[in-house]
Amino acid sequence: MSDHSKYYITGAFVLGAVVAVGLQSLQQHSREAAGHQQEQHQIALRRLSKINDLDTLKKNLSDIEIASGNIKEGIEGCIGDTPLIKIKSLSEATGCEILAKAEFLNGAGNSPKDRVALSIIQMAEERGLLVPHSGDTIYEGTVGSTGISLAAICRARGYKAHICMPNDMAIEKSDLLLKLGAEVERVKPAPIVDQNQFVNLARTRAKEHTDSNEKPGRGLFADQFENEANWRAHFTGTGPEIYEQTGGAVDAFVSGAGTGGTISGVALFLKSKLPDFKVVLADPQGSGLFNKVKYGVMFDPKEREGTRRRHQVDTIVEGIGINRVTHNFEVGRELIDDAIRVTDEQATSMARWLVEHDGIFVGSSSAVNCVAATKLAKQLGPGHRIVTLLCDSGARHLSKFWANKDVGGAENDVSLDKILAS
Ligand SMILES: Cc1ncc(COP(=O)(O)O)c(C=O)c1O
Repeated sequence: MSDHSKYYITGAFVLGAVVAVGLQSLQQHSREAAGHQQEQHQIALRRLSKINDLDTLKKNLSDIEIASGNIKEGIEGCIGDTPLIKIKSLSEATGCEILAKAEFLNGAGNSPKDRVALSIIQMAEERGLLVPHSGDTIYEGTVGSTGISLAAICRARGYKAHICMPNDMAIEKSDLLLKLGAEVERVKPAPIVDQNQFVNLARTRAKEHTDSNEKPGRGLFADQFENEANWRAHFTGTGPEIYEQTGGAVDAFVSGAGTGGTISGVALFLKSKLPDFKVVLADPQGSGLFNKVKYGVMFDPKEREGTRRRHQVDTIVEGIGINRVTHNFEVGRELIDDAIRVTDEQATSMARWLVEHDGIFVGSSSAVNCVAATKLAKQLGPGHRIVTLLCDSGARHLSKFWANKDVGGAENDVSLDKILAS
């Protein structure tokens, strides 16, 4: 293990213990109180639903105790604390409880990147790097989700957003960015050594802004791949939430990695609390991370076969899979126990399965997560509890991942075993 990793892992374990002890007593107390209140409320509502006469109903309504205020502070207040839902079809089929954080319910940009964008902005504000309504502009290289979260939060806090993204991502994402008032540059996919690669371009644009005498304010490069604020958002948010929502009764976490912030932050927190906890990477075809985790070498067979169609990662999946090791992945890499490869075919079939069986309509990275979680459930055997993420809605993938896929009808009567084998 490198000195760098040791530093992060030890630091995270100490910080994790402190955060968790404080959280535990506070949360247990408020959980009990909230649980009791909710139960009483449900009983009263069930009683009311049986009353047919309007006058009696009105009279009884006054008996209902109205809960004390629950008002969120702006759109940023709607980030985090996402529900943990049981995916019933996958749980029934495997005998394990397969649970998913409904991250698409984050309120600003509707993905886990809301947590990251807010964390990056707050950290920059604390350091005095951003001044609201001064023309300060956040620049970011993103395949879409982080850009959408940044653009929304920038609007709420008085900044501008300028997003550089590859031009082969679903068009819905850049359309949405424009509607949020961001400037968008769609560029040709290129390797990271190319100065016009979308992340490099965003860094250059931020510097050009700061150096310019004509543009008001400064340019800030958000740098989600390397920025500490990324994994920390999951270390202090997603990880503790999973711990609390499961009461600590959880065996494994499965997630894809784009920047690596999610898997690192969650692994660092939950492994500091649960010694036998497993962390498993879900990796789409074309990504080098699978081999990095399993064999320590960044490599994907697609490159050897010469069948590569894209400059980045050769998959229809957006948001996860990468062919370089970023700081946010490196921070938690030693804590990842295993990796599961997921093909595009498996991901598209799983996305359809989730609609057919559960009414859950998600995008490509969520489908990859669910394939890997199901494969892990089969490996571990019945009786285990596995948590994964539902990252974003299928609505953000209509023109690409979901294009030409119909739901309903005979072709969807495919067994889970067949999906996993495809
Ligand atoms: C759509 C989507 N896919 C995947 C991920 C996971 O990526 P990362 O490794 O960058 O945390 C995210 C964000 O968390 C996301 O929003």
